[in-house]
Amino acid sequence: MKKVLIVGAGAVGTSFAYSLIHKGLIEEIVLYDIDEKRAIGEALDLAHGIYFTKPVEIRAGDLKEAKDSDMVVITAGAKQKPGETRLQLLDRNINIYRSLIPEIVQSGFNGIFLIVTNPVDVLTYFTYKFSGFSRNKVIGSGTVLDSSRFAYLLSRHCDVDPRSVNAYVIGEHGDTAVLAWSLTHIGGISLSEFCPVCGKRCFEDNVKEAIIKEVRNSAYKIIEYKGATYYAIGLALVNIVEAIARDENRILPVSIVHPEIFGFKDIPLSLPSIVGRNGVKKVLQVKLSEEEERELYKSAKLIKEVIDSFSS
Ligand code: LAC
Repeated sequence: MKKVLIVGAGAVGTSFAYSLIHKGLIEEIVLYDIDEKRAIGEALDLAHGIYFTKPVEIRAGDLKEAKDSDMVVITAGAKQKPGETRLQLLDRNINIYRSLIPEIVQSGFNGIFLIVTNPVDVLTYFTYKFSGFSRNKVIGSGTVLDSSRFAYLLSRHCDVDPRSVNAYVIGEHGDTAVLAWSLTHIGGISLSEFCPVCGKRCFEDNVKEAIIKEVRNSAYKIIEYKGATYYAIGLALVNIVEAIARDENRILPVSIVHPEIFGFKDIPLSLPSIVGRNGVKKVLQVKLSEEEERELYKSAKLIKEVIDSFSS
């Protein structure tokens, strides 16, 4: 992949850029920020480290750079304050997107959008609407980060490497995120069968509830401690970009606008999807437990209500 434009040179955008330069995936990274000096300073600081990483050109630029970019990754926007929900950011961040997306499209951009700004699912929907791009090319980071948190927590409980845990969180990247236990495997063994194998039996004393709470509250907790989250989301974004850049057909719970789920039309949420060169190639019709279906319905219903309230 030749060129990526990162819109937003704040902590998330620069953590993503910092992680990306180590991968040697991209020939050219351009940082845009409304604070031009910030973008120039961050680009210079990153460029001075390329001596230690893989070859890449990194510089500051304006939104016109989108024209020949393969991807535009949007991290710009207000971030959660302690105790604030992601949905509470919408009234501020949608106004940024109302002008930002048309300006990027008018530059002649015809690549893939990767939306990160919260509430990411709803802003993925509005990017789809404002850009007129096809669904598969407007991707939200969705619950990729939630799934890595889920995998990490399970790995600690089950004493295995997080990379041996295939864990999925689906639905909203938010308070209604659904931990899909029925889709989750450790070393190819379903969770229900792993416990007897592991012998620790830790899911008997409602560890399950604790893990669900911990995944859903991770961002709030980190924001309380350090004011924002940015390293893990930066790594999650590299994971998504790598699947596209290398046309990997990697299965990731990214957020796209689905034509219809539970009767809700044009609904943005995360489901395990095959990700490659042209964005999302296929959404997997997964079989969920009844409880997971109920939770996913609640997630979809909430997202639909929020979208309708901002579309009227
Ligand atoms: C988080 C932000 C990316 O969950 O929403 O850390």
